[in-house]
Amino acid sequence: HRHLLGIEPLRPDEITTLLDLADQYAALNRRRDKHAQALAGLTQINMFFENSTRTQASFELAGKRLGADVMNMSMQASSIKKGETLIDTALTLNAMHPDLLVVRHPHSGAVDLLAQKVHCAVLNAGDGRHEHPTQALLDALTIRRAKGRLHRLTIAICGDVAHSRVARSNLLLLHKMENRIRLVGPATLMPAGIDEFGAEVYQDMREGLKDADVVMMLRLQKERMDGGFIPSEREYYHRYGLDAEKLSFAKDDAIVMHPGPMNRGVEIDGTIADDINRSVIQDQVEMGVAVRMAAMDLLSRNLRARPTEVVT
Ligand code: CP
Repeated sequence: HRHLLGIEPLRPDEITTLLDLADQYAALNRRRDKHAQALAGLTQINMFFENSTRTQASFELAGKRLGADVMNMSMQASSIKKGETLIDTALTLNAMHPDLLVVRHPHSGAVDLLAQKVHCAVLNAGDGRHEHPTQALLDALTIRRAKGRLHRLTIAICGDVAHSRVARSNLLLLHKMENRIRLVGPATLMPAGIDEFGAEVYQDMREGLKDADVVMMLRLQKERMDGGFIPSEREYYHRYGLDAEKLSFAKDDAIVMHPGPMNRGVEIDGTIADDINRSVIQDQVEMGVAVRMAAMDLLSRNLRARPTEVVT
C-alpha cells in the first residue's frame, strides 16, 4: 500500500504483519535507548485540523524514534485561517518534498482527497466519522497482548457508535479477524444499516456485555451531534455508563478499553478506568506509539522501493 487511509483495504495477513512489527517496537520503546533508523533521512509532516493529544504526540514520538525529520504544522497559525483551501495547503507542503504526511481532519473523506493530490505517503489520523485506522490497529495490538489472540473473541463496542470513526475502524478490523462483535448503545446513537457489518446490536447494556471478553467504551461525541438528539449526561451514565455492576455481566477476565479522551462519570466510571486489573487504557496509549512506528516503517519501505526522482 502507498497510504494508510483506512482499515477497509487491509487483508488480515497484512494486519498481522503490522502488529508483529509493532510488538518489536513496543519492546524497543521500553528500552532506555529507543532509537532506530527506519525513517532516517525522511521528512514527516503532521497536519492536525482537529484537536488531538494521543494521536499527535504518538505520531511525533514515533517519527523521532525512527530517525525522521518531524515537523508539526500548527494549523491554528497556518494560512488555512486566511482562506487557503485544504488542497492548496497540501500542494504547498507537497512542493517541500515530505515523505510522510499525517493528517487529521473533521470532514469524512478529506484525507483520501488530499492523498490524491500529493506524491508522499499519507496516514489518516482520523477523518470525521469515517476512519481512524491507527487507533483500530493499536486497539488490536492491545487486545492481542492482553488476550493472547485476536480471533474468536466476543467484543462489545459501547456508546456513541454513530459519530465514532474509532468504532467504524474497529468494527472493520475485528470483523476481518473473525471476532464476534456487539454494538451496544441507544438507537439514537446507532448509525443506519450498521448490521451489514456483521455485528449484533443491543440497546440493553447488561445483555450486550454478557460474557464479553473485551468491553470497548466510546466517548459521547457532542461536537458531532449537530442539531440532533443529545442525551442528558445523567441519564446516559445511568443506562450506558460502564460501572462495576454493568461490568459484572462480562467475563471475569474481561478487559476494559477506551480510546480517550475520556469523560469520567459520563461513559465510564473513574474507578473502572483506573482499575489496573481490568483497564488497559494506558496500554492502548503505549501501543499507539509502537503501532505508528510500524505503520510508518512499512510505508517507508514502499517509498524507498520506488525510483528516486533526480533533482537537477
Ligand atoms: N484516541 C484519540 O484519537 O485521541 P486524540 O484525539 O487525543 O488523538
